[in-house]
Amino acid sequence: MENEHIQMVDLHRQYLRLKPEVDAAMQEVIDTCSFINGPQVKAFASHLADYLQVPHVIPCGNGTDALQIALMALNLMPGDEVIVPSFTYVAAAEVVALLGLIPVWVDVDERTFNLNPWQIESAISPKTRAIIVVHLFGQCGDMERIMQIAEQNHLYVIEDNAQSLGAEVIYQDGSRRKAGTIGHIGTTSFFPSKPLACYGDGGAVMTSDDRLAERARMIANHGQQTKYHHKIIGCNSRLDTLQAAVLEVKLPHIDAFAEARRKVAVRYDEALRDDARWAIPFRADYSTHVFHQYTLQIAGGERDDLQQYLKERGIPSMVYYPVPMHKQDAFYGLARNGSSLYVSEQLTRSVLSLPIHTEMTDKEIDYVTQTLLAYGK
Ligand SMILES: Cc1ncc(COP(=O)(O)O)c(C=O)c1O
Repeated sequence: MENEHIQMVDLHRQYLRLKPEVDAAMQEVIDTCSFINGPQVKAFASHLADYLQVPHVIPCGNGTDALQIALMALNLMPGDEVIVPSFTYVAAAEVVALLGLIPVWVDVDERTFNLNPWQIESAISPKTRAIIVVHLFGQCGDMERIMQIAEQNHLYVIEDNAQSLGAEVIYQDGSRRKAGTIGHIGTTSFFPSKPLACYGDGGAVMTSDDRLAERARMIANHGQQTKYHHKIIGCNSRLDTLQAAVLEVKLPHIDAFAEARRKVAVRYDEALRDDARWAIPFRADYSTHVFHQYTLQIAGGERDDLQQYLKERGIPSMVYYPVPMHKQDAFYGLARNGSSLYVSEQLTRSVLSLPIHTEMTDKEIDYVTQTLLAYGK
């Protein structure tokens, strides 16, 4: 079988499929020159709020800004502690430290890669104010349990939904809610590879709390409601109109995009599940999965060899993430370990994410799985 120039995420093929609509939407922005705060920004925020069934969506510059704005909206004080998973992307922990707050590392569940609720409680101290739940790789954390812990301990919950926009938490009574809308405040990124992606940087904050929404909106706009009257310290973080126009075109497709990636995941699962050399992604019963990543755990210390073997055969793969947060130099002296971090360390040595995107063909998937199955044979 031929290698078809497989990519981790094939942005170009998706663009070609949506080209007439995307081109027209972008051209309209250029024709009207409404590059900042054009009508598309408001329209997109309102449509995303409808989709998520949340009263407030505040667009901003990117997912890292969204986290910063969310933390600032909560009015946490320097020295306050915020629980963050150690196995994750840096953004959440970075903004915690940037604001003079203290990241408290908690381990993740070895099957879901998400914050382990059983480890949260022992990490809580009198200074703890908030928990950041990062819904990693397309699957939600155990929100029902985490919200109980947060309520019992009077903690805020921030949901970093950058990798899982569209995923749903499934409650024990069978009801469902969209990730990002369950905690006090949620954040997301529209980075080009994300589940809902623009053609540059973009992000948003979402909340059901009117007061937090008002603060977040002000913070993203230099702390002002009325021009040149600054009530609080803020920043400048805006979603470009051009990006909002792209997102308006893509939003109606968000569930179809997730379904396309789920189909890839199912085909991967079927081919790979019976091989003891790796574990396929686990599906928690409390969440749907939008498969931002399809991440194997490779047994026996073979991960790096296997990655090289795939590369030589034209198959890209990625290690998300090679170093846990508690071992990053940047946080030295600024954070505290809240639990054993054994699983986070172990995962950084075993995880390998395979190509997955909305345009992947069966032929491409089969080339990946057949190559993997032939490894070492
Ligand atoms: C989980 C998570 N949070 C936050 C971010 C930051 O988003 P951005 O790159 O838009 O700042 C990312 C993105 O890369 C992410 O994966």
